[in-house]
Amino acid sequence: MYKINENYQKLPGSYLFSNIAKKVNAFSTANPDKKIIRLGIGDVTQPLAPAIIEAMHGAVDEMAHAESFRGYAPDLGYDFLRSAIAQNDYRARGCDIGEDEIFVSDGAKSDSGNIQEIFAQDNRIAVCDPVYPVYVDSNVMAGRTGTYDAAAGMWSDVIYMPCTMANHFVPEFPEETPDLIYLCLPNNPTGTTITRAQLQEWVDYANRVGAVIIYDAAYEAYISEEDVAHSVYECEGAKTCAIELRSFSKNAGFTGVRLGFTVVPKELKCGDVSLNAMWARRHGTKFNGAPYIVQRAGEAVYSEAGRAQLKEQVAYYMENARLIKEGLSGAGYTVFGGVNAPYIWLKTPEGMTSWDFFDYLLENANVVGTPGSGFGPSGEGYFRLTAFGSLENTKAAIERIKNL
Ligand code: MLT
Repeated sequence: MYKINENYQKLPGSYLFSNIAKKVNAFSTANPDKKIIRLGIGDVTQPLAPAIIEAMHGAVDEMAHAESFRGYAPDLGYDFLRSAIAQNDYRARGCDIGEDEIFVSDGAKSDSGNIQEIFAQDNRIAVCDPVYPVYVDSNVMAGRTGTYDAAAGMWSDVIYMPCTMANHFVPEFPEETPDLIYLCLPNNPTGTTITRAQLQEWVDYANRVGAVIIYDAAYEAYISEEDVAHSVYECEGAKTCAIELRSFSKNAGFTGVRLGFTVVPKELKCGDVSLNAMWARRHGTKFNGAPYIVQRAGEAVYSEAGRAQLKEQVAYYMENARLIKEGLSGAGYTVFGGVNAPYIWLKTPEGMTSWDFFDYLLENANVVGTPGSGFGPSGEGYFRLTAFGSLENTKAAIERIKNL
C-alpha cells in the first residue's frame, strides 16, 4: 500500500491567494451588482511593452519555418538571454556574475519553492515575519519545519525574524543560528527595504556562521533610492554565501508569460561540493527549459526600446503606489512601503485584525487587499495593497476607502 508525503497534511488551509480568491468569488456571486477592485495578489494589469510583443511575434514566426524552428530549449537557458542578463543585471552594476552562473526558469515562484531541494533536511531555515508564503510552505512540504502551532501561526523548527514598525521592518540577526536565510528585498509583503550597508551586514553574518542567503530580488526594478542594492552581489563576499532569485513578472509584466532566473555563483561551495553544479544537475533533470518565444521576449526586456518602455511601466505602478500612500495617510492610516516596492503596508484601524479589515473593506468598499496575518504572525494588524492595479481603479479604490 502506498503512502503519501505526510508533510503535505501538515500544511494549514490553502495557499493564501487561493483562499482570498475563494472569498472574493463568493462575495461577487452573492453581490453581482458590486464592482470589485482587486488590489490583493500582486498581479500586473498593464499590457506587455511593444518591444516585448514585437520580439514574441518574431519568435512565433521563426517557429513557423523548419529552418528556424526550435524544439527543446537548452535546460539552463539560451545563451542570448543568459548573456543579456549577465551583462545588464550584473556586470553593468559592477557584479562579476558569469553566464554559467545564471539558470533561466519559468519564474521565481518555482525557483523559490524548489531551491530548498539541494539542502539537507535538517537545515534550519530563517524567514522574515511576515514573509512570502512559498518559502515556508515549500519547506513544510520537504519536512523541514517541525510541528505547527495553530494558535501562534508558527512552526517549531522555523526561525522567525519579526519585521514590524518596532524595528522599522529591518530583520535582526536571530538568536539561533540558521543554515538557510530567506531574504526578499525590496520586501514582499511590507514594501519596505534595507540599505546596501545593512545588506552587507547580512552577507558578512552568513559568511561568518556558514549559512546560505536565498535572496529574492523580484522587486528590484522598483528601487528608487541610491543606497539600496539591486542585487545581493553588490555586497562584498556575497558570492560565497548567496543565491539570488529574479523574476520577469514584476519588472516586465510576465506574470502570465512566466520567466525568471536563479544565480548560483561558482564560488558557493559546501566543502568541495559546488552548489552551482548541484542546481545545474537538478535543473537538467527536472526542467526542460523556458520556451524559446518567452526567452526572446525576455531578451527584449534588455533592448534599448524595451528598457525605455519598462521604465515607464514601472513609473506607472509607482505613481499608483504614491497615490495609495498619500491618499491613505491623508485619511489617517499609518502606511509603509511604496517607495522602493509596489506594495503599501498599512496598519489596520484600532481593534481590527487583518482578516476583519479584509472583510470590512470587501463588504463596504468592495476593495480587495491581502491580510497581513496571511504572511505570518507578525503580519497581524497589518494589511497589504498592491500598486499593480490600473490608475483608474487605484484612484477609485482610494476614494472608496477614504469615504468609509
Ligand atoms: C504576491 O501577491 O505576493 C505575489 O504576486 C505572489 C507571487 O509573486 O507569486
